[in-house]
Amino acid sequence: MKEIIRFLSSVLYYVEERRYPLAVAFKRSLNLNRPRGVDSNLLFEYARQLLLSYYSLPQARRTVRIKYWLENKGNLNVSFPQWMEKKLGSLLDVNALKSSLKEKTVWIRVNLLKADIDKIIRELERYNVEFEIDKDLYYMIKVKEPQIRLSSLDIVKECRIIPQDKASSLVVEALRPQIKERLVELSSAPGIKASLYMMLTENKNEVFLADIDFNRISKEMILLKRCGVDMNKVHIVHQDSVRNSLIKADKVLLDAPCSSSGMINNDPSILITLNSCEKVDKFSKLQKTLLREAVNMKASDVVYSVCSLFPEEGEEIIDEYYEIAERPFDNYNYGYPNFRSSFKSNRVFPHIDFTEGFFISRLKLTRL
Ligand SMILES: C[S@@+](CC[C@H](N)C(=O)[O-])C[C@H]1O[C@@H](n2cnc3c(N)ncnc32)[C@H](O)[C@@H]1O
Repeated sequence: MKEIIRFLSSVLYYVEERRYPLAVAFKRSLNLNRPRGVDSNLLFEYARQLLLSYYSLPQARRTVRIKYWLENKGNLNVSFPQWMEKKLGSLLDVNALKSSLKEKTVWIRVNLLKADIDKIIRELERYNVEFEIDKDLYYMIKVKEPQIRLSSLDIVKECRIIPQDKASSLVVEALRPQIKERLVELSSAPGIKASLYMMLTENKNEVFLADIDFNRISKEMILLKRCGVDMNKVHIVHQDSVRNSLIKADKVLLDAPCSSSGMINNDPSILITLNSCEKVDKFSKLQKTLLREAVNMKASDVVYSVCSLFPEEGEEIIDEYYEIAERPFDNYNYGYPNFRSSFKSNRVFPHIDFTEGFFISRLKLTRL
């Protein structure tokens, strides 16, 4: 028990003091304070649940809070900071959202560049993984409450399946990928959507992948190679897309930097590190500028997406272009009501779609 308390204290320290995302805080803590004989899958779930009930804990030293959590974990509710609760309360069913966060749904994508679906299904059955093939996207598989660490499986290590949320795949589907078109992605790292785009276009298209962060670009190149993407078709551009140097494309993807509030189920550290509306407004300004750059390109379509639950990063951004915006999917929710672009966008949610929370809209530049 002492070792678990030390481990969770370390996770909490990295989140509270260093503002690290859960995955990084977890990895560092595992390296420093790994409790003996406890499965790391269970430890991750402990850390995730601890952060989800962070605001239900007493105000006390870290170790006291963790002891309290361990004694009461079965009865503690998911809790949001007040400002977030208030803000989301007028937009969605916060209680439904909170209860959905307790359960963990993991999505995996069959990487058709390296594997075929039937073989993967047989392998998952062999590992006794309970799963469901998605009804909309034939290559997506939903794993509910996974009992084993998927990352430990050979099929993941070999990139024959890739952990990727269904909402992230919907963003790529919104581009309606066609063979022989050129795609520009203005903020592309670590390349998970680009790798799906290359899969759907059978490695035949040229893609121009931009990002401001050199380290993330390096990881992107490694990921794309491991996924079996034809690197001869990939052009990496290290740029601040606020001053975009790319002029022409058929389609543009702007999967913009955002508050990540739609990813609370996978990374509840956001509840602690995203501590004010000010940060959301800052992202909103950057998103507006990046979208202006995207719209100024010679292209037919721009897909705009964010993994955010806040309208400042979604509907309010698209409102400026509502005349040329269109709703990518008929079978998913509209954007939040009372915005000009409400009916010209989609929102998917953890409590409705079992996905991360995403906003997606498509602009038809040919209508300008
Ligand atoms: C949501 S992530 C993109 C995820 C990526 N589309 C994928 O699916 O793997 C946002 C990215 O925007 C990048 N970014 C932030 N500000 C930027 C800017 N001014 N210009 C270009 N990229 C930027 C970040 O480095 C980050 O990699």
